[in-house]
Amino acid sequence: MENFVSLTELSADEIWTVLNKAVKLKQEWKSGGNRPILKGKILALVFQKPSLRTRVSFDVGMLHLGGNALYLSPNEIGLGGRESVPDVARVLSGYVDGIMARTFSHDHIVQLAEYASVPVINGLSDFNHPCQAMGDFLTILEHKGTLDGITLTYVGDGNNVARSLMFTAAKLGVNFNIATPEGYEIEQEYVTLAENDAAASGATLQFFHDPVAAVTGSDVIYTDVWTSMGQEAEAKKRLAVFPPYQVNDELVAHAKDDVIVMHCLPAHRGEEITDSVADGAHSVLFPQAENRLHAQKGILALLMA
Ligand code: CP
Ligand code: NVA
Repeated sequence: MENFVSLTELSADEIWTVLNKAVKLKQEWKSGGNRPILKGKILALVFQKPSLRTRVSFDVGMLHLGGNALYLSPNEIGLGGRESVPDVARVLSGYVDGIMARTFSHDHIVQLAEYASVPVINGLSDFNHPCQAMGDFLTILEHKGTLDGITLTYVGDGNNVARSLMFTAAKLGVNFNIATPEGYEIEQEYVTLAENDAAASGATLQFFHDPVAAVTGSDVIYTDVWTSMGQEAEAKKRLAVFPPYQVNDELVAHAKDDVIVMHCLPAHRGEEITDSVADGAHSVLFPQAENRLHAQKGILALLMA
């Protein structure tokens, strides 16, 4: 593993290596602290969009492992504007030991990885959010004790987070359902990619427009905002389409009794998820957010130590 750009590029074994490393580092951290395996190493955090979890968890994760992080805000670099992406990649490679980037265009992450001589980690693009998926599967593993036989149902927009969850489920043999409004499905080319992996892993992938049919019998319900960063101009239109896909108590009641409810956050409470569900007995939203830290420490350890 040289970069962490898309789960489609990793094997199930490599994904399990990250998860197992994350479990180990989390246990170590909770029982006194981590060894400084990244002592003297510096990670650049390049952001074209806002962030709470990604920024703080990468910064803190580097500190836990003995290294440092350098935050570069959307105004600073002008990725692809003030300076070309290949030039930014090559300049940063002379200063730092790794680059984490959150971009609008996924192509910018791909170019960073191509031109940098240090590892590149995707901290969210318009296409995917692989670090989120790693934290999420760590959370499912912890709460369910296994990934075997688990059905994860995503309800809402077929967006970056949904794609990464589908890719990971397909690789790991986790059954994946998704319910989206018509016109907001995950694109067929990515479905085909995941179906190839599912055929090898034994995962079942099912695509719905009816959220009730999708969540029935599920172990995990997952949702995300209806309008992602960069889509603000569509917010009004989306707000008219998505309300039948709200994760509320009535929808959750159709899943298994011990269903866990997940959301990558930030949440638009009252839109895709109600307060009652987000703060209710099935919610794992905050342990899930914490696990970004632990999952990413696994990624950092494997790429940079
Ligand atoms: N879930 C997530 O990536 O959160 P941030 O946008 O706050 O980093
Ligand atoms: N789909 C959301 C995820 C935020 C973490 C977005 O891209 O804005």
